[in-house]
Amino acid sequence: MIREILFPWALMTVSALSLPVTIIKFLVAGDLHAFTSWSTFRDAWFAVFWINVGPLAKQTAAPNVIPLLQGRLKDGKVQDKVVSQPLHGTVLEIGRGVGMWTQFYQKTIDEAEKEGTAGPDKIYASEPNRFLAATLKKHVKTANFEEVYHVLPVGVEGLGNTTASGTKIEPESLDCIVTVQGLCCIPEPEKNLPLLYRYLKKGGHWYVFEHVRNDESTILSGIQSFTEIFWKPMICCHLCRDTAKTLRGLGEWEEIDLAPPQGESPYEMIPHIVGTLVK
Ligand SMILES: C[S@@+](CC[C@H](N)C(=O)[O-])C[C@H]1O[C@@H](n2cnc3c(N)ncnc32)[C@H](O)[C@@H]1O
Ligand SMILES: *[C@@H]1O[C@H](CO)[C@@H](O)[C@H](O)[C@H]1NC(C)=O
Repeated sequence: MIREILFPWALMTVSALSLPVTIIKFLVAGDLHAFTSWSTFRDAWFAVFWINVGPLAKQTAAPNVIPLLQGRLKDGKVQDKVVSQPLHGTVLEIGRGVGMWTQFYQKTIDEAEKEGTAGPDKIYASEPNRFLAATLKKHVKTANFEEVYHVLPVGVEGLGNTTASGTKIEPESLDCIVTVQGLCCIPEPEKNLPLLYRYLKKGGHWYVFEHVRNDESTILSGIQSFTEIFWKPMICCHLCRDTAKTLRGLGEWEEIDLAPPQGESPYEMIPHIVGTLVK
């Protein structure tokens, strides 16, 4: 229990330590651009934090995220066989970060091509943080992957701005949406998540792995709310969002499979939900 309660504080410590590292890094690189405004500096700071913490987050997320995108997850439990439709068609990922799942996409596309199955054929990756977006390009080197994979340098709220995003996403045009620890970061979910719902085709799949609020007990959610006071300015994301409720309420769904991942402690201060919604 103590471990779970202290874990966010460990991450906040890493974020605090990333602050001087960010200042030194950009000064030494002569990249004064990072200091032009608070929000630009905040992005640079988060990028330094996430480049270090991201791999750890990937390690804990991968046992759920990979089966989720392979259609091998139900009720929060990983299945041996494919039980629902894997990632396919035109995909939009929100909050791409350093591109942790890019190699997985690449592999999936290659395998689908080899086996003649329906894999993803276009992937849009939304990432408004220019310092993180820049790290993405390094991953997108392999031959034709560049034709398939497009980084959109905007957040979810900017997707409708064709000039800024460089792409026009039509309503009801997406086969899949992927949100992996991204919905904790977006502004105004009540306003922006309906936009995403609209982009999704009828029958389209929304794959979710998000951290949410702790509903286990009043004491635990109280501790979580207290932690959030410090967490929000340090990590730039929300700890106590009821994302499952917001997603369910977006409109009509043909199918909803959202559950806590198997084996997560009830004391978790960063508890998750995992699963798929089908429109
Ligand atoms: C906790 S990180 C997770 C990154 C990635 N999904 C992963 O699993 O590594 C959240 C990401 O959301 C991005 N983000 C912040 N605001 C956003 C917005 N308005 N729209 C889309 N993404 C946003 C952040 O820049 C960051 O890369
Ligand atoms: C769209 O993006 C462009 C380029 O970033 C910006 O100049 C413009 O103000 C944006 N338009 C709206 C309506 O936000």
